[in-house]
This record gives sequence, structure tokens and C-alpha cells, in this order.
Amino acid sequence: MIRHSQPNGPKIKVLNYSGTSNQSAGVVWCGAIICTILTIAVIIGGIVTFIGYLVIHPRVPYVSVMDAHLDHIQIDYAGILEIQVTILIRAQNGNEKAHASFSDSSYSLSLNREVVAQLVAPPFEVGKNSSVDFNYVVPSSPIPLGPDQAEDVDAGLKKDLIIFDLKGSSRVRWRIGSLGSVRYLCRLDCQLRFHPLNGTYIPSRCSSKAK
Ligand SMILES: *[C@@H]1O[C@H](CO)[C@@H](O)[C@H](O)[C@H]1NC(C)=O
Ligand SMILES: *[C@@H]1O[C@H](CO)[C@@H](O)[C@H](O)[C@H]1NC(C)=O
Repeated sequence: MIRHSQPNGPKIKVLNYSGTSNQSAGVVWCGAIICTILTIAVIIGGIVTFIGYLVIHPRVPYVSVMDAHLDHIQIDYAGILEIQVTILIRAQNGNEKAHASFSDSSYSLSLNREVVAQLVAPPFEVGKNSSVDFNYVVPSSPIPLGPDQAEDVDAGLKKDLIIFDLKGSSRVRWRIGSLGSVRYLCRLDCQLRFHPLNGTYIPSRCSSKAK
């Protein structure tokens, strides 16, 4: 009724209507374009990262036990243990374009669940495609063992086989080109086996490198 009494009414209304329609279509288009641009950006980013990865070929730095020697082991009648072990740990960085920073290196050496030594290193850098060796000479101060532990060590000496547990980690940080820096924890958790009679290390895999 009111529309009929105002001839201009419907016309204004139509204009007004089509106006909002254009606006919302515009918003939809804008959204679609932004979405498309974002999608393309993400895809291009992914391709660049992938190609960068292929070109730079980053390798995860790692630590491993290269060699060891049981220099001295002795347990007296009272169950007091004295040992000296040499352990060669190598930190390796296979990246040809990036150096790696190692920090918080700490490894505990235990014998029959008794920690006999803590192997620590100050923060250090490993150059491009290079390695750094740590030759730990671990003299343990006399360690009183419980009767069970002493018996185990005694049995190991008689069998000519002494097994240490080496557990710990180093933090490593290195840059992958312009893609940013990566942080990683190099963990070691392995058994070091020795012939106590001649101190020989029985080589086995002990590395933080994934198999
Ligand atoms: C990286 O080191 C390995 C082994 O030491 C060597 O064979 C290789 O040529 C080195 N690569 C570069 C780019 O120096
Ligand atoms: C040490 O002793 C073990 C077992 O008796 C033997 O297999 C090994 O060859 C010896 N190593 C050396 C360097 O004499």
C-alpha cells in the first residue's frame, strides 16, 4: 500500500538492493582473490622450501662414540671400585654450508646402575663438513658399591666382560641456508662393552644418528 502511494519508492528500493548486492559480491570476490593469492603463496613457499632443501641437502649433526678403552678397573674386598675409562666421542656436522653449535653436552657413565662419571663439555662449534673429537679420560674417585653391585662387577671381571651404560645428550643448533635455524637434541643411550683383562673396547654402534 505504501509502495503504491509512493511511485519512487520501489525504484529507490531496487537501486538500494542492487547496491548492497554489488557490495557483497565484491566482498566475496575480494575474499576469493585473497584466498587464491594466499594459496598460491603457500604452494610457492612449499616449492621454494623443498627446492632449498634439495639444494642445501641439510644433514642432522650427530654425536657418536668412536673408540674407548678401559684403562683401569679394580675392586677391593670392601667393595670399593676404582676405574679409569677413556672414551672418544665425536661430534659430526655433515652440512657443507652450515656450521653447527653444540651445547649442554652431558653424558653419564654408569656401571651396574651406579653412575661412576659425568662427561660434560662446554659449548662448542663444529665447522662446515667437519667434526670435533672429545677424548674423555674418566678417572673415577673410589666408589663404594653395595654387596650386590660388587658381586656383579666381580662376576664381570671373572667373565672378562664389563658393561657400562652411557646415556645423555647434546643440544645442537644449525642453520639450513636462509630457511632458518633448527634445534635438535642428539641423544646417546648405549652400552659400552670392555674386556677388562686387556682393557679392549668391544666396538658396537653408539650414535645419535638415526639408523
Ligand atoms: C666433506 O667431507 C668429506 C669427508 O671428509 C669429503 O669427502 C667431502 O669432499 C667434503 N665436502 C666438501 C664440500 O668439502
Ligand atoms: C683382548 O682380549 C680379548 C678377549 O680375551 C681378545 O679377543 C682381544 O683380541 C684382546 N685384545 C687385544 C688388543 O689384545
